[in-house]
Amino acid sequence: MSGAEHVAIDAATLDANTAYRLLTGVVVPRPIAWITSVAEGGELNLAPFSAFTMVANDPPMVGVNIGLRAGRQKDTARNIAHSGEYVVNIPSWDFRHAVHESGRAWEPDVDEIALLGLRTVDSDVVAAPRLLDVPVSMECRLARVVSFGRAGAEFTVGEVVRFHIRADLLQDGKIDTLELDPAARLAGPNYGRLGKVDTLPPLTMTVSSSADRREGRS
Ligand SMILES: Cc1cc2nc3c(=O)[nH]c(=O)nc-3n(C[C@H](O)[C@H](O)[C@H](O)COP(=O)(O)O)c2cc1C
Repeated sequence: MSGAEHVAIDAATLDANTAYRLLTGVVVPRPIAWITSVAEGGELNLAPFSAFTMVANDPPMVGVNIGLRAGRQKDTARNIAHSGEYVVNIPSWDFRHAVHESGRAWEPDVDEIALLGLRTVDSDVVAAPRLLDVPVSMECRLARVVSFGRAGAEFTVGEVVRFHIRADLLQDGKIDTLELDPAARLAGPNYGRLGKVDTLPPLTMTVSSSADRREGRS
C-alpha cells in the first residue's frame, strides 16, 4: 500500500521553538480561553490562551497551558497563583481582533480591557470580573498547576464554579455551536471560524463484534 510521502522527524533533534511551531500547526484549531484575572495590587488583566482544553466534568474542570515569558511567569499565571481565581471567557468570532491585541505583552499596570473597549461585569463567585459581551464565561477556582517538559510552562487547571451562557445558545442543556460562533487559533497570527457542520447518526447502538458476525449473532 503506498500513501502520500511523509517526512519523518526525530523529535529528539528539535529545539524548543521548532517543536512549538510544529505542535501549534498540528494541534488545530484550538479554542481560546480569554482569561480575566486580578493582580495582587488589584489591577485587572486580560490575556488569551489557546492551549486550552476540558479536563474533567465532575466537577467541571478546564485547563490552560501558560508558558513563561523571558523565563518569568506571565501576569495571568502570577495572578492565578496569587488569588486562586479567574474567569475563562469564550470569544466569538467578532472578538478575534480584540483577542489578538490582548495577546500583546502589555505592562502589568495597563488595563488592556479598557484599552480594547471591552466591558466587564462582576462575577458571582470569584473576585475577577467576567467579560460582559462574550457568549460564555466560566468562573474558575484554581485546582492544580502541573509543569511538563523543560520550558517551564504551567498547565493550570481550574474548577468551573459558575457558568454564564448567553440564553439563546442554550437548548436542553446543550450549546448551539454555530450560534456560539467561536474564534479558534491556528498557527501564528491565524484564526479560524467554524465551517460546515456535518451531523452523523448518534453512536447509541452497540456495534456487533467480528466474532458475533461470524457466528451469525447480530
Ligand atoms: C490567540 C492567542 C493564543 C495564545 N495562547 C497562549 C497559550 O496557550 N499559552 C501561552 O502561554 N501564551 C499564549 N498566548 C500568548 C499570551 O496571550 C501572551 O503571552 C500574553 O501577553 C500573556 O499576557 P499576560 O502576561 O497578561 O498573562 C496566546 C496569544 C494569542 C494571541
